[in-house]
Amino acid sequence: MKCVMVTGGAGFIGTNFIRYLLDESGYAGRVVCLDKLTYAANLMSLEDVARRHAGRYVFVRADICDAAAVGAVVDGNGVDVICHFAAESHVDRSIVAPDAFIETNIVGTHRLLEIVRARMGRIRRFHHVSTDEVYGSLGPEGRFREDTPYHPNSPYSASKAASDHLVRAYRETYGLPVTISNCSNNYGPYQFPEKLIPLMIFNARDGKPLPVYGDGMNVRDWLYVRDHCEAIWRVVTAGADGETYNIGGRTELPNIEVVHVICDLLDERLGPLPGGGSRRGLITFVKDRPGHDRRYAIDCGRIERELGWKAAESFRTGIRRTVDWYLANADWVKSVQTGEYRKWVEDQYGGGAR
Ligand code: NAD
Ligand code: TYD
Repeated sequence: MKCVMVTGGAGFIGTNFIRYLLDESGYAGRVVCLDKLTYAANLMSLEDVARRHAGRYVFVRADICDAAAVGAVVDGNGVDVICHFAAESHVDRSIVAPDAFIETNIVGTHRLLEIVRARMGRIRRFHHVSTDEVYGSLGPEGRFREDTPYHPNSPYSASKAASDHLVRAYRETYGLPVTISNCSNNYGPYQFPEKLIPLMIFNARDGKPLPVYGDGMNVRDWLYVRDHCEAIWRVVTAGADGETYNIGGRTELPNIEVVHVICDLLDERLGPLPGGGSRRGLITFVKDRPGHDRRYAIDCGRIERELGWKAAESFRTGIRRTVDWYLANADWVKSVQTGEYRKWVEDQYGGGAR
């Protein structure tokens, strides 16, 4: 492998993946981070990477729907592996404004597949990063396996399901060298605070209300982002062509328990709220999300057995690392809270991003 292109590399998981690739994985080639720089992108998170790995790392601002631009990046850099993270990723936004999800997640993935098809033999692997949400919602029992039928319930998960089907179809029809991974909810450093865990950490730190949807008993299977990055790299380097691997943390928790743990950790680190009292008192039950999936849980036996990967972090250790990271990186948090990160991007890369 000479050059890995990471689409959506300026987002939460993409940023962590690029860090893992360049700093920890042992990979010796180059990395192209290709990103449109939507609201969810934060290039400040990769500033030190760009400095430390100058010569091995390059950033390109492009939309994956722009086939000519992306094709030129692939050819100009001799890209031989594509790790495809770029997506609109937030369920609540997909409920309010689904169009961008159809455009980026479905049309954008199709454009990338066409780019690979036109370069058969030169691109050795197209890895598609997907979600367990394509399988729909579980009752109290069972876990999602790779052969669980798709049953997406939100515009986000439906758009990811469509992109998964396109990737599979391009394998069957044209023989593209693809792999797919479907993972559970990630948490860790550099996550945008519209998602549950960073939102709760930011608000609890600042003594603001903690909005919990419905009864707080929806269950998610939490995966520490570094574990996810290691799993993806394992699939890219050792996974079989055309195969799907489920990735999970074996950590099922109801949302309310996650929020309690965050409150307790912040009380422990920062002391009680100014007026006294635990941060648990900030919890506010709010109107439920429409079509809110009740429970996700991943059976990750396949990747454990076949590729020898296993999550290293338990929720207890991962959430401590995460809370401590946000507390130690107050400048990063501030730049996100004030919107300064967008100004920084626009100053460097011009207008146009949403
Ligand atoms: P994110 O929203 O933090 O980042 C997405 C990135 O994609 C952003 O940098 C954004 O600018 C970029 N992007 C969006 N549209 C683009 C376009 N048209 N062209 C180029 N770049 C574009 O998302 P994330 O949480 O890092 O998720 C990454 C991938 O992992 C997504 O495919 C998502 O579906 C999948 N996933 C995420 C989770 C999770 O818990 N975060 C769980 C399962 C699967
Ligand atoms: P989220 O982080 O949006 O991920 P996803 O919808 O992809 O699972 O939400 C995780 C869970 O937390 C989900 O059950 C919805 C819930 N949630 C809240 O209760 N309050 C919030 O403010 C948010 C953002 C999510």
